[in-house]
Amino acid sequence: PPNSTMFSLIQPTNRFHIGNYLGTIKIWRDLANNPNVPASGSKLIFGLADLHALTSPKDPKQFKNARLEAVASIIASGIDPKQAILFSQSAIPEHCELYWLLCCLTGMGQLNRMTQWKAKSQVSGSTETSVFEPEVLKKAYAGVFMYPVLQAADILLYRSTHVPVGDDQTQHLELTRTICESFNKTYKNYNFPQPKTILAPTKKVLSLRDPTKKMSKSDPDQNSCIYITEDAKTIQKKIRKAVTDSIDGGYYFDPVNRPGVSNLLNVVSGLQNCHVDEIVKDINDVKKLQNHKELKDYVSEAIIEGLKSCKTTFAQLMEDKSYLEAVIKEGNDQAREIASKNMKQIKTAVGL
Ligand code: ADP
Ligand code: NA
Repeated sequence: PPNSTMFSLIQPTNRFHIGNYLGTIKIWRDLANNPNVPASGSKLIFGLADLHALTSPKDPKQFKNARLEAVASIIASGIDPKQAILFSQSAIPEHCELYWLLCCLTGMGQLNRMTQWKAKSQVSGSTETSVFEPEVLKKAYAGVFMYPVLQAADILLYRSTHVPVGDDQTQHLELTRTICESFNKTYKNYNFPQPKTILAPTKKVLSLRDPTKKMSKSDPDQNSCIYITEDAKTIQKKIRKAVTDSIDGGYYFDPVNRPGVSNLLNVVSGLQNCHVDEIVKDINDVKKLQNHKELKDYVSEAIIEGLKSCKTTFAQLMEDKSYLEAVIKEGNDQAREIASKNMKQIKTAVGL
């Protein structure tokens, strides 16, 4: 529909891994190029959540380069900057303006229920965890707590209707809809459209070293991630080291009892755009793989093949930083135009 806007951001922290690729950027691309999806024909707005990234402070020089790498990664993953606005959150001051208005409508209790906050404030496992507990107050930062409100502002500022994200973001998107509703009710003269979550078909990709955790850019153990620009040798080495189990042969998808093996099957299924059952069939009935070494070689090959063009394009793009800067500059200008027009109306509705 011509009035829909597909919107999503990614933090420019460290290199992107296959979880980011399969969980987000690949669906941005597939949605943009598939006429049979709900948001087909929408305005496409993608970009860098560089303000969110500062919840863990960065070396300023490296941060600049990380942002260029992030833009290169997005384009290399198949997003055409002529088709989509590619911008940087920090370049648009309206994000922080709307963020404040939304803070004033968001309950502390609602934020305190966010599982990502609980995980990041690291008060071990208890559901009783509260921001008011002295343990939490001692070490947690307000930015981490408020993170989902800035995310809601990002989304609502562009009157987004569809938000493609990985399944770790489901709860934050629900909160965005709650905040949206509360704004719409409080201010009679303005209504944001309710943004829909669009989940990637690939399940959450897990850490190769500890398949009980998600694969994450901020994981200090680089062996836990396959980065999308990784060379073939490193991919093989990391997959060989991936934690699996001691059941050989007869491979099947069972995330509860065989999380490591299932994670590898999930990745191959995502890269090859087919159901995990088809991968299982291929492994057992066609390739007849007998042991973990054979399985891991199969997985490595699928990953190397799946990331090949991404890796080549990324390297080419990083040779031309002025092109990347120009892409972002143009995207910022386009985003700013939409944001300032919307923000003017929002402020009027609020009485500012
Ligand atoms: P990270 O946690 O690796 O730093 P971000 O918070 O920047 O990643 O998330 C960027 C996008 O990538 C989000 O849409 C998120 O849902 C998705 N994503 C991140 N990690 C994974 C994962 N392990 N599996 C699937 N999707 C993921
Ligand atoms: Na309203």
